[in-house]
Parts: sequence; structure tokens; C-alpha cells
Amino acid sequence: MPDFLSIQDHSEAEVKALLELALELKQAHFSGGNEPILKDKILGMIFQKPSLRTRVSFEVGMRHLGGQAIYLSPYDIGLGHRESVSDVARVLSGYVDGIMARVFAQVHLDQLAQYSSVPIINGLSDSNHPCQALADMLTIMERRTNLEGLKLAFVGDGNNVANSLMHICALLGLTFAIAAPKGFELDRQVVSRGRELADKYGGDILETRDPVEAVSEADVVYTDVWTSMGQDAEEELRKKVFPPYQINEDLLTKAKPDVLVMHDLPAHRGEEITDAVADGPNSVIFPQAHNRLHAQKAVLAQLLTS
Ligand code: CP
Ligand code: NVA
Repeated sequence: MPDFLSIQDHSEAEVKALLELALELKQAHFSGGNEPILKDKILGMIFQKPSLRTRVSFEVGMRHLGGQAIYLSPYDIGLGHRESVSDVARVLSGYVDGIMARVFAQVHLDQLAQYSSVPIINGLSDSNHPCQALADMLTIMERRTNLEGLKLAFVGDGNNVANSLMHICALLGLTFAIAAPKGFELDRQVVSRGRELADKYGGDILETRDPVEAVSEADVVYTDVWTSMGQDAEEELRKKVFPPYQINEDLLTKAKPDVLVMHDLPAHRGEEITDAVADGPNSVIFPQAHNRLHAQKAVLAQLLTS
């Protein structure tokens, strides 16, 4: 595994190995601490967009494993503006042992991977959020004996988070049911790759406009913001389109009684999710956020030690 750029690049076996490693590292962390397997290793973290979870969990994860991280803000590098992506990759990879990047265009991650001599990790792009999907599956695994056959309903925008979730569900044998309004569906190419993975590994993909149909008998109900970073110009339009796609107590009655409610955060409470649901008995949104740390430590351990 040279890089971690999107879930669809990986096999079921690779993803399962990362999840197992994440569980081991989490257990070790809470029973005395991790071995310093990344001693003297340094992670460069490029951010073109803001972050709480990704920035802090990667930095803390590196420290837990004996290494360090350097935060490079949007103003420091000017990826693709101040300097070409290929030059940044060739310079930075001479200083650090791995690069995590949060970017707009996925193609910039591909270019970083092409020109860098060290592993590249996707910390979110406009089209993928693979570290989030890994942490999400870790969170479900800890609460269910078997992932296979579970139904995960995603209600909202067919965005970066939905893409990676669809692919990881397809790989691990879950049914991914998405309810998205007209004009905000998943990208056709991304779905087509999802269907290939689902056919190969046993998952299933359902697309509808009806939140009730998606949520019906679901084991997991997931949502994300209506307007993602970089889409601010569409915010007013989206606020008009998305209200029927809110996760609220009424919609949740259609799911299984022990449904897990998930959100990658940050949440816009009162828009895509109500306070009552986000803070209700079925919500796992905070353990889910904390699992970013453990899932990413597995990715770091896998990529930076090989
Ligand atoms: N979920 C997530 O990636 O959060 P941040 O944007 O705060 O990193
Ligand atoms: N879809 C959201 C996820 C934030 C973690 C965004 O891209 O802004």
C-alpha cells in the first residue's frame, strides 16, 4: 500500500487489515500506550481547507506512535498557486517521511503521489474522505458483531463523505442506501465503481430521493452538511432544497430501534440533524470523531513503517 488516496484503490483484505490494526492500536493505547514504531518519523500536513478533527487527530496520532507532525496552512504553501504541486511534492518529500493533504481537487493528491518519494494520505478532497470512512467502519465494528449485511442509510448530499462511505460499504458487504435530492445525487462514475466493488465483494447500493425509503429498517443512519467546504456560493440554494433531508426524531422512527446515528462533523445542528438526534441515545457521533485518531494511526503505521 504505497499511498492512501481513496477507498476504491484498495481491496477488501487491505481495508480489513487496517481496521484490525486500528483496533489493536486503540487497545494498546488504552492499556499503557503504543510502541514508538514511528520514532523520528515526521508527517507533513498540507491543508487547503480548515479542519479540527483531521489536523488534531493526525498530529496526536503521530505523537502516540513516537513521531511528529508539521502543520502547513493554506497560506504557507499555496499548493498549485505559489508553487506547482509537482515541485511541492519533490521538495517536501525530501524533508518528511509522509504527507497528509487536505485539498480541493483529487487530482492534486494524484500529482503529489506521482512526484513524492514518500507516502501520501488523503485528509479529504472534494471527491473523497477515505480516513473518515475508515473511522466510520471502525465505529460500527465496535458495536456490531458483523458488518456484512448491515444497511447504512446516508441522507443528504452525494458528496465526498458519501462517495467514500459507498465504496467502503461495497467492499465490506454492507448495503449503502442514499437518499439525495434531484441535482445532488452521487456522481455516476463513482457509483459505477461502487457497483463494481459491490458485485465483487458482496455489498449493495440503493439510490432514492425518498429519505423514508433509505432509512427504512436501517442499522445505521448517516448525514453530513448540506454545503461542503468550497461550495459557499450554493449555500442559499442548498438551504432551500435540503430541509426534507433532515435527520430528526420522526425520520429515525423508520429505522431499526437500535440504529446508530452517525455524522462526520462539523454538524450544522438544526439543518441536516436536530439536537435531539445528535445528542440522543442512538447517536455515536463523538466516539466516531474520536475513532479518526485510531483509524489514522493504523494508516500511518502501515504506510510509514514499510
Ligand atoms: N470530519 C472531519 O474531517 O472533520 P474536520 O474537517 O474538522 O477535519
Ligand atoms: N462534506 C464535508 C465534510 C467535512 C469533514 C466537506 O467537505 O466540507
